[in-house]
Amino acid sequence: MKKKNLIVFGTRPEAIKMAPLVKEFLSHQDKFETKVCITAQHREMLDQVLDFFEITPDFDLDLMKPNQNLYTLTADIITGLKTVLEDFKPDYVYVHGDTTTTMSTSIAAFYSGAQVCHVEAGLRTFNKRSPFPEEINRSVTGSISDFHFSPTPTSKANLIRENVDEKTILITGNTVIDALNFSTNKVNLPQFQDEEIDSLKTIIDSSKKLILVTGHRRENHGQGFVNICAALKELGQQHQDCQIIYPVHLNPNVQKPVYELLNDITNIKLINPLSYPAFVWLMNQSYLIITDSGGVQEEAPSLGKPVLVMRDTTERPEAVDAGTVLLVGTNSEKIVNETNKLLNNKEFYDSMSMLHNPYGDGTACEKIVNFISNL
Ligand code: UD1
Ligand code: UDP
Repeated sequence: MKKKNLIVFGTRPEAIKMAPLVKEFLSHQDKFETKVCITAQHREMLDQVLDFFEITPDFDLDLMKPNQNLYTLTADIITGLKTVLEDFKPDYVYVHGDTTTTMSTSIAAFYSGAQVCHVEAGLRTFNKRSPFPEEINRSVTGSISDFHFSPTPTSKANLIRENVDEKTILITGNTVIDALNFSTNKVNLPQFQDEEIDSLKTIIDSSKKLILVTGHRRENHGQGFVNICAALKELGQQHQDCQIIYPVHLNPNVQKPVYELLNDITNIKLINPLSYPAFVWLMNQSYLIITDSGGVQEEAPSLGKPVLVMRDTTERPEAVDAGTVLLVGTNSEKIVNETNKLLNNKEFYDSMSMLHNPYGDGTACEKIVNFISNL
């Protein structure tokens, strides 16, 4: 009898990091029957990823609503999954990371009697309000899960400290590196063409240093984004030899302040969220990256790009310890000062742009599939 897998995700980063696992399971159809369910917690930003990785979901709950809230989203995911779980009856349900989709799916899967497999397990800041609500989402998911795929020894150690049975934990590296390799290989094919990359080439001023910015965290909504925009405005005005490119997240709590406060600065370009290959291409072109993203903190070190993280905490200490990621919070002065240091101090810049790979070697999905095969 084939083992039945249901892989569930809902947002852009989950899709990027689960896509290579979907592909790996689908290449083992002799052993597994694998289906994909998307909650569509995100819509356009999720569909961009599905297109690039050529994944057609078997179930689409199509839940995203404009400016949605955590209460109804959580309830809708649990309710929406009931039919899928009861009809397909998976043996294993795979969830990723720490979103509302992750936590709600793990609860629904537990109710159904399936075994829950948590990909990117064990990340912790130990501050339940930062990131909000992700720290609690991943702790709840961890306590429900039967199997834990940890990206690094540090994330495994966090789970051991929470009394998780060591036999149920596997260190795999982060599947984001699998996704990054897939993207690089596909983009390098001679027949690959991408309109977004072509259009970025017309926007980028190659005589200037490129600063790439992204931001979306809930705990930064409100004053945090006002401070971030003030810092970017000051940097844009101070450094006419730099160009800031900012693909703005579609959350209205991000769009509104960013477009209101940064629209009229000539060397700041606000653009729509990019497809994954175009964003990876842009990271490669950049001199430095300023972000509050989790995924970007993992990708940038393997591209040798320094990252300033606009957060007070991180669940990804590996690159901070290696000196290539620096926490700057959302204090405007600190963001401006650390960016200036990177722009003006070559020695500091070089120390932060060391190429290294604390988040894996691109074989995470293979390890996960082998582990499940051997159960
Ligand atoms: C969510 C996750 C966060 C993750 C982030 C990745 C939760 C609580 N938050 O935050 O952990 O880091 O995704 O980006 O799970 N929107 C669109 N189109 C899209 C996507 C979003 O219009 O394709 C708008 C909608 O108005 C939506 C809003 O953004 O209601 C918020 O989306 P939501 O998923 O609730 O929060 P994010 O801030 O995206
Ligand atoms: N990303 C993308 N297009 C963009 C910005 C980011 O494809 O315009 C990718 C990025 O490479 C990373 C992921 O999206 O893999 C990060 O998503 P996000 O920052 O929204 O979420 P987080 O990782 O913080 O949960």
